[in-house]
Amino acid sequence: MATSKQPDDTEAVVNPMDSEGLYPDPEKLIEEETINLEVLRKLVGESLIEVNQLDRPLVLEICKFAALLEATEIASSHPLDGKIVITAFFEASTRTRLSFESAVLRLDGKVISIPDAKTTGVAKGESLADIGEMLNAYGDLVVMRHTRRESVDEIREKLRIPLVNAGNGSSHHPTQALADWYAILKWKPELKLGAKSGKKLHLGILGTPGSMRAVRSFLQMSLLFKDVIGKMSIVSEMADPLGAEIDHELENSGVDYHITNDINEVVSDLDVIYMNSIAFLGDSYRTLDARYRLHKGSELKKDAVVLHPLARLDELHPSLDDTHHNLYFTQAHGAVFIRQALMISILNRFDRLPKNIPAK
Ligand code: CP
Repeated sequence: MATSKQPDDTEAVVNPMDSEGLYPDPEKLIEEETINLEVLRKLVGESLIEVNQLDRPLVLEICKFAALLEATEIASSHPLDGKIVITAFFEASTRTRLSFESAVLRLDGKVISIPDAKTTGVAKGESLADIGEMLNAYGDLVVMRHTRRESVDEIREKLRIPLVNAGNGSSHHPTQALADWYAILKWKPELKLGAKSGKKLHLGILGTPGSMRAVRSFLQMSLLFKDVIGKMSIVSEMADPLGAEIDHELENSGVDYHITNDINEVVSDLDVIYMNSIAFLGDSYRTLDARYRLHKGSELKKDAVVLHPLARLDELHPSLDDTHHNLYFTQAHGAVFIRQALMISILNRFDRLPKNIPAK
């Protein structure tokens, strides 16, 4: 009698979307390396509000842990069993809310969700501080998105369980930046060696770090990898796309950067292009730098990759989707594993990982 194959705890996951070979292999990021749980334990019980809480060793370890989770089937060890994650989204989202929820459910945790501010007491004038007090009793971790930058401080007045900021107005989006750099490190795993890799990327940012949270967080995390950045070009139609905070951080970083409003000046020299056009303004958004459009016919370097946090509008043409310039789908799909790595760490569920994985 034929018996069905029983997967062992660490069976490799085959990416069903990769018939074109467009998705970099996560194994290459962890080859012959051990995940350092001591570094990841810094996250236990902590909130993650902005990129500047993280240092490079921690970002690298989160990305390596994500690669392990992407390359290995560990759901059978039920890492988040018994944990409840609250996704509290007071602003629209496709990727962030669903990828957090998918991440939790695939690890056998449970999710309760506010998918829309209108479904809460906010519609009746309730404060975020009062909502925070309630959430303490309902779950173990809150993932919140909000239209306003102050929302994080307001909910934390009363919140005593960890908070992961999933985007607050035009301010910060730290888990997006982790997903961005996870994609870049899978694309070029040698970058984790820093200066020893011998790489000096020309990084292009098409967008406005001062008013786009994903772009700001990406730029801040890029400064943790400044020794592999030869040049940074910020392409924006605005006279001051950086704002005071990022201006100060870039000046202090020593990175060779310049600002231009002419994409043609730099596009053919860029190795990595990060683009976005949506800037949040309270309850609405506007598009900035939308005249900078990339498509299959753009003069990109042969090996250049394009990142975009999505949602896209006209600035990123679907004709690039089936080319090797497309790192934006890798970015979006990898976010599930980054968020898993983060939640296992914050919720201290290392003891639930299979014993035979390379982690100590
Ligand atoms: N990247 C991102 O934040 O997408 P969503 O707005 O769909 O969550």
